[in-house]
Amino acid sequence: MRIENDNISSMKDETLMTMTDPSKLIQSSQTWTPQSWRSKKALQQPVYDDPRQVESCLNNLRRKPPLVAQGEVDRLRSILADAAEGKRFVLHGGDCAERFEDCTGPMLTSKLKILLQMSLVLTYATRKSVIRIGRLAGQYAKPRSNEYEEFENRRLPVYRGDLINDASFDEKARLADPNRMIEGYHHAAAGLNFIRALIEGGFADLHHPELWNLAFVDSSPHRVAYRKMVDAINDSIAFMETISRSDDSLRRVEFYTSHEALLLPFEESLTRCELNDEFYNLSAHFLWLGYRTAQLDGAHVEYLRGIRNPIGVKVGPLMPYEHILELIEILDPHKQPGRLAIITRIGAAQVESYLPQLVDCVQKTERPVLWGCDPMHGNTEITKDGRKTRRMESVFSELEQTFAIHEKKGTCLGGIHFELTSDAVTECIGGSSGVTEDDLSQCYETACDPRLNGAQALELAFLIARLLR
Ligand code: PEP
Ligand code: CO
Repeated sequence: MRIENDNISSMKDETLMTMTDPSKLIQSSQTWTPQSWRSKKALQQPVYDDPRQVESCLNNLRRKPPLVAQGEVDRLRSILADAAEGKRFVLHGGDCAERFEDCTGPMLTSKLKILLQMSLVLTYATRKSVIRIGRLAGQYAKPRSNEYEEFENRRLPVYRGDLINDASFDEKARLADPNRMIEGYHHAAAGLNFIRALIEGGFADLHHPELWNLAFVDSSPHRVAYRKMVDAINDSIAFMETISRSDDSLRRVEFYTSHEALLLPFEESLTRCELNDEFYNLSAHFLWLGYRTAQLDGAHVEYLRGIRNPIGVKVGPLMPYEHILELIEILDPHKQPGRLAIITRIGAAQVESYLPQLVDCVQKTERPVLWGCDPMHGNTEITKDGRKTRRMESVFSELEQTFAIHEKKGTCLGGIHFELTSDAVTECIGGSSGVTEDDLSQCYETACDPRLNGAQALELAFLIARLLR
């Protein structure tokens, strides 16, 4: 068994431990350009063999049409501002590492469906309009904790996501290939086009709740409570249908895309100056800064500070509070509503000791941040067989504690972030379908981190509803 030992909760990451040296701080007054990141240290970048080929691929990408439009990005920022004020709720989810080969009609349809189903349950749970953001149509680059991977006495560069190299354990496959950036662009475009078509075509039409397959509910020990919720949701839809027959809001939903802003040459090539003289990354609506690339003087922070998109910042227990405050200052100097989401990914065991003080520190800054919780990345563990997994109980426990802490502090948890797939994979342990550690080998398919399967993901939405109602 070969394992890539990243995203493990006990990880000690040198780069995070040393990243608060104030002498290295970015001068946020320095001129920003889409290329200014190039003068900073960029971690987690591949080494390409032929720089001329890289440049030729980037030139090609610079001419491509954007994947999303500025107006959509601005709209998302403005509704995220509502979420920060507690008026809306964000559901953010999808694959850890999307694969090009999964860019198929059936896969995209079922991923969209699970996110829509979860959002319906969360709308019921929170009584708020839910903003749906997919880790979809472009989540193709992965940060890794090790540069190399060993298997049967062979040592190869790690898989860094389909945007960079191929996952097969083969020397040629693991070479970083710049043409993959163009392939990534085209897959993202095809995927997004299909998602837009599904939504425009009424796929999310709530007038047909019978199409929403909630079969898993029956195998849950909480089935009576869940069935009541399903009935209540269906009743509400029927009622809305009666009073607003011509209302389009039941037929169409908004859906946004996101990915980690990791492979900076690619992100730069899709950064465009719009008519308002502002720069936007138009490869996705929302981008996030990963936990491993959050150095204050690093290239990723430099790149992200200059774009207008709303952005997420993953934060966790290895980050000192002052570091997070500096990040907020650099990334959102104008205190712009909807600009910044702080996504905590702490781990169930440490939430209580880390989060309350973080909330206090951020509150003192009086910044309009949106608090999100990613209960996946702090709860990764390795089984005795060497597989990465996550337990539903830890995932839910982190969520439960996070909701409670925000409530106690008078702040609001405005969004949740999951790694999930619609397929019946066996990568995470627990849930009504009863996946045990011994079952993990049955259908363990992720290219990177363990994902909730469709039933586990929906069950989590119901557990949150039980918690909040
Ligand atoms: C991820 O979201 O897949 C990820 C790597 O997260 P983090 O940066 O929080 O570890
Ligand atoms: Co992940």
